[in-house]
Amino acid sequence: MKALILSGGKGSRLRPLTYTNAKQLIPVANKPVLFRVIEAICAAGIREIGVIIGMDENGQRVRDAVGQGGRWGVDITYIPQEAPLGLAHCVAIARDFLGDEQFVMFLGDNVIEGGISKLIRDFEQAEYHCQIVLTRVEEPQHYGVAELNPDRSIKRLVEKPRNPPSDLALVGIYMFDAHVHEAVRAIKPSWRGELEITDAIQWLVEQGYNVHPYIHRGWWIDTGKAIDMLAANAKVLEELTPAIAGFVDRESRVDERVTVEAGAEIINSVIRGPAIIGENTRVVNSYIGPFTSIYHHCLVENAEIEHSVVLEHSKIMDVPARITDSLIGRNVEVVKSELKPRALKLTLGDHSVLGLI
Ligand code: TTP
Repeated sequence: MKALILSGGKGSRLRPLTYTNAKQLIPVANKPVLFRVIEAICAAGIREIGVIIGMDENGQRVRDAVGQGGRWGVDITYIPQEAPLGLAHCVAIARDFLGDEQFVMFLGDNVIEGGISKLIRDFEQAEYHCQIVLTRVEEPQHYGVAELNPDRSIKRLVEKPRNPPSDLALVGIYMFDAHVHEAVRAIKPSWRGELEITDAIQWLVEQGYNVHPYIHRGWWIDTGKAIDMLAANAKVLEELTPAIAGFVDRESRVDERVTVEAGAEIINSVIRGPAIIGENTRVVNSYIGPFTSIYHHCLVENAEIEHSVVLEHSKIMDVPARITDSLIGRNVEVVKSELKPRALKLTLGDHSVLGLI
């Protein structure tokens, strides 16, 4: 069995971060989401992985970060996509890589509780042509939605329906055999110009192929927007086994559920878990609250922050208000300025969001 990870796309809902980075490389609990996807695939025993990337700088960034897969003991093949023409388009351009083998397709920005080992085992043992993963959601109109028959087989799939026929959303993990290639050839682009994977699966259902719905009961997060990133970060932090590899001075109070990575320093500060402080980051005279991840080489001094994610090489200093629910990019400075006039002085990228008090 092979795996196909989708790591292209526009990432428009995560601007401005995605102007200079691929969204799949944004860390959740200090590890890029894409690395978590590779680890889940690896844990399921799959060694041959195709990765769809854009033909832009973000595509190159994914290549640079992931490499050939040696770190995980897997073989990575990159498959460049000329433009984000849809999830089924990704299957079409991966045809040579996939051959006629069974494969799992995993969206590179999705995080799922419990991994995929059981799903893969079930699919390999059963006689399904396709297995999809469904989960109950509160606002199904934002997702691909499945309607089931009374015998729990699939009646139909609809993409972002105005009037959802159920609350069962499609999770970004799909398993196929070679019949999907016929389906992908048979469908036409949707109104938004994309080859939709829901249309390909619907085609399989209509042709009488066995498409099995697996109902996932744990959490699942599609990290498409900043708020989803924070939610995924919180969930993964709760599962992390804490460890203190860095330095914590005697004046600091660090909760049980806190990870302090190697080279990090905690000086005269309070850290309430679950939280993680990255390599070579310094936290001085500060408060780090629950559900916060500070990545490597950051400085937090005379500041308070909680339920937030801070990316590498950023500086948060002398901030008079507590920062919360924030996603802060790389090389960002949030500092109090002594320069007159006393005013907010901002350099914000396009599509930045600033919540003032
Ligand atoms: P989406 O989140 O649906 O699309 P996007 O990345 O373009 O984001 P936005 O809506 O914010 O602009 O994509 C799901 C995943 O699939 C994501 O990891 C990107 C990837 N993808 C591709 O690799 N190729 C594609 O053609 C599409 C549509 C998505």
